[in-house]
Amino acid sequence: MNIKTALKYCNYKFFAKHRQGHGIHSPFVYDLLTNIIEDETSFYCFEKIEQLRSDLLKNSELIEVTDLGAGSQKNKSNKRKISDIAKYSMTPKRYGQLIFRLVNHLKPHNIVELGTSLGLTTLYLSQPNSKANVYTIEGCPEIARVASKIFALTNANNIKQFVGNFDQMLPQVLTESSQVDFVYFDGNHRKEPTVNYFNLCLNHINDNTFFIFDDIHWSEGMSEAWGEIKKHEKVKVTIDLFFMGIVFFKKDLQKQDYTIKF
Ligand SMILES: C[S@@+](CC[C@H](N)C(=O)[O-])C[C@H]1O[C@@H](n2cnc3c(N)ncnc32)[C@H](O)[C@@H]1O
Repeated sequence: MNIKTALKYCNYKFFAKHRQGHGIHSPFVYDLLTNIIEDETSFYCFEKIEQLRSDLLKNSELIEVTDLGAGSQKNKSNKRKISDIAKYSMTPKRYGQLIFRLVNHLKPHNIVELGTSLGLTTLYLSQPNSKANVYTIEGCPEIARVASKIFALTNANNIKQFVGNFDQMLPQVLTESSQVDFVYFDGNHRKEPTVNYFNLCLNHINDNTFFIFDDIHWSEGMSEAWGEIKKHEKVKVTIDLFFMGIVFFKKDLQKQDYTIKF
């Protein structure tokens, strides 16, 4: 985390409101906050997924990394240990489990993930409903190979893996899925590509669709992208959890941006 982001984070930690739902008038957001965001129930699959994370964090195998995105701020080398990818690229447990709860509660059928990495969040996406389609895209073939082994090992048969650049793969996935109910944007954290992927996905939403953007305050560019997304006329409610931003499009909601302590 650079200094600017660290200062923003301190500001968020001290001044973000709405813990335990105080001051939230929207029943939809109140329900989300009290029953999903702040829920601490442990579900049956959490232990299995977190055991896989521990194994990956100990895996010293070196693999060739093709970086198509904004890249790691930590390591620029082409050969990386799987343990380092696990440490620096994967969505942390707390956020993976929040994503699981959202999927479990809101029941999206067609789910798209931009940025599979080693596939742990993909597992959190796939577990609540074996009938849902989880389309996940990864640009680095070697990382995708490790993820595919994990999917085979866990019998996650509802995951459809796509290997290639988002620029080519996302239109293909959107054609195949037709409508999207949930998109997790977690790769190529730069302003222009993020806004472009958002606009592409917008053509495939329905009233219940929701989006999650990772690392919305990671850089100036990402903060600007988040600002543009919040302002979009189709966007109704946004929830800023600092490391993630959630977006809803329900027409009967009042346009409002929340910052919630998580
Ligand atoms: C932050 S990681 C994804 C983490 C994963 N969603 C998780 O929760 O564990 C981002 C991934 O996106 C991939 N990526 C970045 N830019 C890409 C692009 N333009 N096309 C395809 N993949 C890309 C990277 O190779 C990296 O594995």
